[in-house]
Amino acid sequence: MDNDDVMTLPPSFDLGVSTSSFQTEGGASERGESIWDRFLSRSRLDGDDWRVATDHLARMEEDLDLVAGSGASVYRFSVSWPRLQPDGKGAPRREALDVYDRLIDEALNRGLDPWPCLYHWDLPQALQEKGGWGNRDTAYRLADYADVVGELLGGRARRVFVHNEPNVHAVLGHLAGRHAPGSSDLPTFLAATHHLNLALGLATARLREVEPNTEVGTILSLQPIEAAEQGEEHAAAAALADAAFNRSFLDPLLSRGYPEPLAGMLDPYVESGDMALIAQPLDVLGVNYYTRLRVIADPRGHAGLALADPPAGAQVTGMGWEVVEDGLMQVLTMLRDEYGDPPVVVTECGAAYEDVPNRDGRVEDVERARFIVGHLRTTLAARAAGCDVRGYLVWTLVDNLEWVEGFDQRFGIVRLERPSMRRTPKLSYDVLARIARTGEVPPVDAFSELV
Ligand code: FCB
Repeated sequence: MDNDDVMTLPPSFDLGVSTSSFQTEGGASERGESIWDRFLSRSRLDGDDWRVATDHLARMEEDLDLVAGSGASVYRFSVSWPRLQPDGKGAPRREALDVYDRLIDEALNRGLDPWPCLYHWDLPQALQEKGGWGNRDTAYRLADYADVVGELLGGRARRVFVHNEPNVHAVLGHLAGRHAPGSSDLPTFLAATHHLNLALGLATARLREVEPNTEVGTILSLQPIEAAEQGEEHAAAAALADAAFNRSFLDPLLSRGYPEPLAGMLDPYVESGDMALIAQPLDVLGVNYYTRLRVIADPRGHAGLALADPPAGAQVTGMGWEVVEDGLMQVLTMLRDEYGDPPVVVTECGAAYEDVPNRDGRVEDVERARFIVGHLRTTLAARAAGCDVRGYLVWTLVDNLEWVEGFDQRFGIVRLERPSMRRTPKLSYDVLARIARTGEVPPVDAFSELV
C-alpha cells in the first residue's frame, strides 16, 4: 500500500460501530445488579454515571438513526445478562425480551445488521456471590443464557458473538483487580480463564442448536506484546504476558490446548471433553485492537511483570495508549500465518481524545478520524496481503462510560453532553459516512483539509 493511495472498500466488507450494554443502556432499575454496579459503587464515580450511562435504551431510535447516518451497515451491541436474568438463571424477564426485540427490529428497519454479543463483562452479581468465573458452574449458566438469547433472536441476526474480550476480563478483573469483580489472586485468574473458555464452548454448541442459520463467533482483544528492555528476564516477562493475555484464549480456540508457560497451571481446571468443546470451529473471530503492549520484568508487579510506558516521543491517545497501526497488521498476519487464517472481523478499533467543541458545539476530531481511517487502511492492506479479514467496526458510536474512567475518556464519533444527553456527530462521523457512501478510503492526511 502506498500511503498516498485512495483504497477501495471491497463490496462485501462489513463496516460498522460497536457498543456495549453496561456502557450505554441506562435503565438500571429494570435489571438485576451486575458485578460492575457493585465494583463501581466503591469508586469515585457517581451512581448516575453507570445507572443512566448514555440512556441508550430510552433513546434507542435516535441512536439507531445515528448509526444508520454514519454509513455503518452493522450495529454491534451487547445484551445485558442481568436484565434478562437478574439472578443469572431461570425464566427471562418479559420486559427485557421486549426491549431487545424492539432494538433488533429497529435496527433491521433501518437496514442495519444487528450483531449481538452475549457477554460484555456484566455478570449478574448473584453469580459472583457463588464464585463468579472462579466457579465452573458459571460456564453452564452462560450456556443456559445463550439459549435465552438464541430464542430471542429468532433468526434475525446474521452473526452472534459469545464473549467480548474474556482475556481482558480475566486479566484486569481477576488478576490485576482493576476491573470488576476486583479479584487479584492467581488461582481465581487461572480458574476464570478456563471457565470463560469453557463457557464459550458450551454456549457455541447451544447457539448452534437454537439458531442453526446464524454465524457464531467470539471476540478477543489481541495485542502484540514485546519486552521494553533488553535481557532474558524481560523476554520471559513478555512471553508470560503473551501467554496469559493472548494465547491462553487464542490457542485453545484453535485446537492447540493451553500454551506454555501456563499450561501446567491451567490443566488442573480442565475436565475431560472441555478442550474439544472449546475448539469447536467458529464462523468468525472478532479481534479488538487498540495498541501494542510493552512489558518489563518487575518482582513487585502481578505475576512478576509490569507494563512499560510507550517509548519517548511516541504518539499516544487520551488513554495514554501508543498509536501503532502496524500492531494491527502484526495481529492479522499472525492469525493468517500461525493460526490457519480464520475468518476475522476487526470488531473494535478506536481512540479517546480530549475533544474540544467549537462555539457551535461541533468537535473537529481530526486525530480520531486519522486513527480510525489509518487502522481501516491497515485492515484493508492485511486483506490485500491474504488475511481473511471481512469487516471493521469502530469503537464507538456515542461517547460512553469508559468503565473505571467514567465519562472522562471520549471514544465516540458522536459527542455526548451530560446531563442534557444531547448527541452531536463529530468530524470522524462524517468521515466514516463519506467512506461508506463512496467506498473510497482516503489517505489519512486528507482530513486536515476537511476542517
Ligand atoms: C475494550 C472494551 C470496550 C471499551 C474499549 C475502549 O477493551 O471492549 O468496552 O472499553 O476497550
